[in-house]
Amino acid sequence: MPSAATSVYYALVVAWGASFYQFYLRDVFQTTLGVGRVIQPIEDFPFECRRVEHPRLEACEDLWLDNEARVLYAACAGTDPGRLHWNQAIKKFNASGRRPGGSELIALNIDDAGVDGLFHLRGIKPLGYTGANGDTSLDLLGFDAEILDGETINFYFVNQRPPIGPFNNYIDGSVVGTNSTIDVFEMKRGEEVMRHMRTILSPEVYTPNRVAILGGGAFLVTNDHSVKTGWRRELDPFIGGGNVVYCKSNSECHTAVAGDEPDEELPFNPAKIQPLYKQYLDKALSLLPKTKLKFPNGLTRGFDGLYYVPSSVDGQIRVYALTTDNTLRLIDAIRTGIPLDNISPDARGDLYVAAFPNMPRALKALADPLNLDSPSTVLRIRKTVDAGADGIRSVDYRVEKVIEDKEGKIISGATTVRHDAKTGRLFIGAAMSPFLVVCEPK
Ligand SMILES: *[C@@H]1O[C@H](CO)[C@@H](O)[C@H](O)[C@H]1NC(C)=O
Ligand SMILES: *[C@@H]1O[C@H](CO)[C@@H](O)[C@H](O)[C@H]1NC(C)=O
Repeated sequence: MPSAATSVYYALVVAWGASFYQFYLRDVFQTTLGVGRVIQPIEDFPFECRRVEHPRLEACEDLWLDNEARVLYAACAGTDPGRLHWNQAIKKFNASGRRPGGSELIALNIDDAGVDGLFHLRGIKPLGYTGANGDTSLDLLGFDAEILDGETINFYFVNQRPPIGPFNNYIDGSVVGTNSTIDVFEMKRGEEVMRHMRTILSPEVYTPNRVAILGGGAFLVTNDHSVKTGWRRELDPFIGGGNVVYCKSNSECHTAVAGDEPDEELPFNPAKIQPLYKQYLDKALSLLPKTKLKFPNGLTRGFDGLYYVPSSVDGQIRVYALTTDNTLRLIDAIRTGIPLDNISPDARGDLYVAAFPNMPRALKALADPLNLDSPSTVLRIRKTVDAGADGIRSVDYRVEKVIEDKEGKIISGATTVRHDAKTGRLFIGAAMSPFLVVCEPK
C-alpha cells in the first residue's frame, strides 16, 4: 500500500500535469491552433465586400479612421518588394528587399470611392525625417493618432528600422534584430504632408508592435516578443513573452506591465485544500512558471480610459487601468478564444478586432501572400455596465462575430479593422496581403 506521502506526491503530479495542460498546452491547441473550431463562409454575413487593389495599398498592417473628417489612414509597406523581405514578426531580415522609398501613409476619402473605386488615395509625404544612416524611408507597422485641435493630427508610428553597422551599412537583422523607434509626425487636416516632430529610441522598446497615445507626448507600446532574436523567442507561444511599455516624449521608457501575474484560473480551489496537503500544493504551484502575456499585439485605449491588450496566442484581451506610477493594473480579461491582432474603437466606443481563425493556414499565407489566402475573422466587443439594484456595478463584455471568411476569398490575412459607425462599413487592412478590403452592410 502506498504511503500517504506517495499518494500526495502522485496527486500532485496529476494536478501539476493538469495545470501544465491548462496553463500552456490548452491555449496552444484550442485557441492558437483552433483545433475543432467552426469557421463560417463569408456568405453567412450581411455584408458586400470587395478588395481595393493598388500597388500603394499593399501590406497595410494598420489603419486609423478620422471619423469627423471622414478620412481613413493606412500604413502600407508593400508586399514584394516590401514586407515579404523585411518583417521581424516572421523573421524576414533582408533590408535590401524593402520597397524603394519605404512604407507610406496613405489617406483615403471614405465617403467618395471615385470612378476607379480607390477613394481618391494619396500619400502623406513625410518631411524632416532621417533614419540612422541618412535613409529617409520609413518602415511602418502599427500606429495611433490623436486629434489635437480642429486642424492638427499627431501620428505615432512604430518604425522598424534596419540596424546599421560602423560604416553606415545595413547589418544582419537576424542577429541583432531591428533598431525600431517610435516616430511622431504632425499633419494639418487636408494637407498631404506630415512633419517629423521626434524619434523615441529606447532599449525598453525592442520589438514594438503598436502604440496607444496617452496625451502630452506620453504613450504605451506593446513589445510583441520576449527578445529581439534568439532561441527564447521560439518559446514565446508556449510560455509567453512580450510586455507593455510606458514612454514619455523624451524617450524615458519603463515596463508598464511585465505580464507575469498569474491571471489564469486554477483548475481547483486552493482554499478548499486540506492544510496538510496545502504545503505540498504551494510548493508544486511555486514550481510552475507564471503565465505571461503571449504575443501582446495591437493595443488601444478604450473610451472608458482603460487599455485593451489583445493576444495573438491565447485569444485574450487583457484590460488594464493606468496607475499613478504609470504602470498598468490588470482588471479584467476577455476570453475570445481566437488569436487576435489589432483592436480599435469605433466612434461609439465599440471595439473591433481582427482575428486569425485558422493559424496554420495564416502562417502559410504569411509566407506566400501573393498566392495563398488566409481565413479571417472580425469580432466586436461591446461593454455594458449595469448598476444593479444593490448598487454594485457589473461590467460585461459581449463578444460577437461581425464577419468571417473561411477561405479568405475576399478578406484574407486581416490584421486591422476600422468600423465606420456612421455607415456601418468595415475597412480592413492586412500586414502582408496586397490589398485593402471594404465591406458595405447589405
Ligand atoms: C534580398 O532582397 C533583394 C532585393 O529584392 C534580392 O535581390 C535578394 O535576393 C534578397 N536576398 C535574399 C537572401 O533573399
Ligand atoms: C540605432 O539607431 C540609433 C539612433 O539613430 C543609432 O545611433 C544606432 O547606431 C543604431 N543602431 C543600430 C544597430 O542600427
